[in-house]
Amino acid sequence: MSRLILLGPPGAGKGTQAKRLSTGLGIPQLSTGDMLRAAVAAGSALGKKVKSVMDAGKLVSDEIVNELIGERIDQPDARKGFILDGFPRSLPQAEALDRLLADRKIRLDRVIEMKVDDEALVERITGRFTCAKCGAGYHDKFHRPKKDGVCDQCGGTTFTRRDDDKEATVRARLAAYHAQTAPLLPYYRARGILVGVDGMASIDEVTRQLQAAVGTAGVA
Ligand code: AP5
Ligand code: MG
Repeated sequence: MSRLILLGPPGAGKGTQAKRLSTGLGIPQLSTGDMLRAAVAAGSALGKKVKSVMDAGKLVSDEIVNELIGERIDQPDARKGFILDGFPRSLPQAEALDRLLADRKIRLDRVIEMKVDDEALVERITGRFTCAKCGAGYHDKFHRPKKDGVCDQCGGTTFTRRDDDKEATVRARLAAYHAQTAPLLPYYRARGILVGVDGMASIDEVTRQLQAAVGTAGVA
């Protein structure tokens, strides 16, 4: 199984688990959030357009993310499969993805819902930090580097925190999830491709549940 969507609210662990599955399955993580943040960091025209929307915790327009994903899915590394992280997150995006895949004669294998409690998410997100060099993700309380201040993956010593990880913005992002993204659950359930994992379990346990859900026990 290699065409997957990880669906869940901000802080559910989509990025953390997409990276692990990507390594295990040898297929890329396609994160619209990462693509948009790269555009903001580069100061491109797209980045300038989306920065204030992201900082307010709102969704950027469907047209922008549909185009980003359309271009990304056609890259050679995504031919064998992909893990969508943070896309689609509205019904128009899900419909655009359906058209895009139908045009390429590809079908979705699984949509995995990461189930979590809203209150735990605020704590997860406000404690999150990332290695500036390789992008590995950490948490002040739940996932500290083995040696303080040194990245486990690449030895980097500089870490960053996201501009939209302040508590008020996290609450706006959660509201956007419930209003615009949660309706995708019945959309995919009706097709029989939705499965759920317990996103409140430990990071390793969530990985095990995901591997079971995609039929690749032991790969990551
Ligand atoms: P995006 O980057 O997609 O952010 P998000 O959906 O809000 O999700 P996060 O990245 O915050 O959380 P995550 O689920 O990846 O959790 P993580 O693994 O880091 O989007 C950002 C913005 O971009 C949006 O607000 C919007 O403006 C725009 N955007 C992006 N895509 C868009 C689209 N398609 N349409 C429109 N706009 C779009 O985990 C969080 C923390 O918890 C980490 O520190 C981690 O170490 C820790 N953790 C993870 N799992 C566990 C666990 N099981 N137990 C304990 N701690 C854990
Ligand atoms: Mg993420």
